[in-house]
Amino acid sequence: MPNLIFYQKIKINKGEYVKLNIFSAAQPSGIPTLGNYIGTIRSWNAFQKNYNSIYCIADLHAITKRQNPKLLLKNSLDLLSIYLSCDIDPKISTIFMQSHRPEHTQLSWMLSCYTYFGELKRMVQFKEKSKNNKNINIGLFSYPILMASDILLYQTHKVPAGLDQAQHIELSKLIAKRFNKIYNSNIFNVPELIITQSGSRIMALSNPKKKMSKSDKNKNNFISLLDSEESIIRKIKNAQTDSDQPPVIKYDVIKKPGISNLLCILSELTGKNIIELETYFSNKLYRDLKLEVIHTVLEHIKKIQKKYFSIRSKEKYLIEILQSGSEKAKKIANNTLSKVKNAIGLHS
Ligand code: TYM
Repeated sequence: MPNLIFYQKIKINKGEYVKLNIFSAAQPSGIPTLGNYIGTIRSWNAFQKNYNSIYCIADLHAITKRQNPKLLLKNSLDLLSIYLSCDIDPKISTIFMQSHRPEHTQLSWMLSCYTYFGELKRMVQFKEKSKNNKNINIGLFSYPILMASDILLYQTHKVPAGLDQAQHIELSKLIAKRFNKIYNSNIFNVPELIITQSGSRIMALSNPKKKMSKSDKNKNNFISLLDSEESIIRKIKNAQTDSDQPPVIKYDVIKKPGISNLLCILSELTGKNIIELETYFSNKLYRDLKLEVIHTVLEHIKKIQKKYFSIRSKEKYLIEILQSGSEKAKKIANNTLSKVKNAIGLHS
């Protein structure tokens, strides 16, 4: 189990234990990276036992950037296969595609009438994604409202996600509270973010001052979960460190961002805390740290890849999972949407 903070499994309601609801999602905009895996996807299977877990393939979010129509379904099935290879069990969890449930876009419109322009304008991710981008569409701007709808439709208590989503989840909380207050009701659960202790922001390997991202133009900056062994070894060997003499393997994000990033990756994947790792590497070389990171990353990725290639070829099975996931999601989504419509005064 990754080192998660804000972890709570059950809520006691009038002396009765109730399972909490978990919701998370990723965009089918390419094969997930090591950052996506450590930051969130890796923890999803552990939640299944104790939470009602719902995991979504956020294809509607992906179209804020132009996607190749011939590749969108393929990318979604790739992502689903990654979820399954990370041991998310469709018999226990609900796994579905966002565009299969129209309630997401319906709620999104309604919630956009309860969200202010100024609130969206402050979103850091919008500012970042607008830079050097000719396609600054309204979807990119209102993206956090669709995200709030994803989360709030399923009466979510906990959202496991990376740090880059924290501001969006804060906005989801604000919208939920605002809506509940206006209608003097508890229509929405107010969700909380769950982040990993040291892996909530894995940084780019050759430029550890920016986030590891699958859309990075420099492929050396990220490790894809389907990268070959040779390319993983090469990318980690070439990861930026520093020129301290003698070499110092210490966690210091400001002075030693490259070393800190490698320590975070190792800490999350081995379950050893950073202080323990610093002691272990105290008289060792950067090369030793890198070799350990390579060994650990390969151990995880090889397991995923082995499962991935056997699952990915079963397209019929994958489509069935999405169909049944969508049916399961429908019940909860419809229920919330009806409550929202009733509160507003819209008739079904
Ligand atoms: P996406 O597809 O960009 O990323 C999926 C998840 O991976 C996390 N993540 C990282 N964690 C640590 N280090 C990194 N370098 C790193 N890069 C990405 C992200 O925080 C995310 O948890 N908008 C979302 C998808 C989404 C969603 C939702 C998430 C749609 N609806 C509702 C949570 C709840 C996104 O673009 O994720």
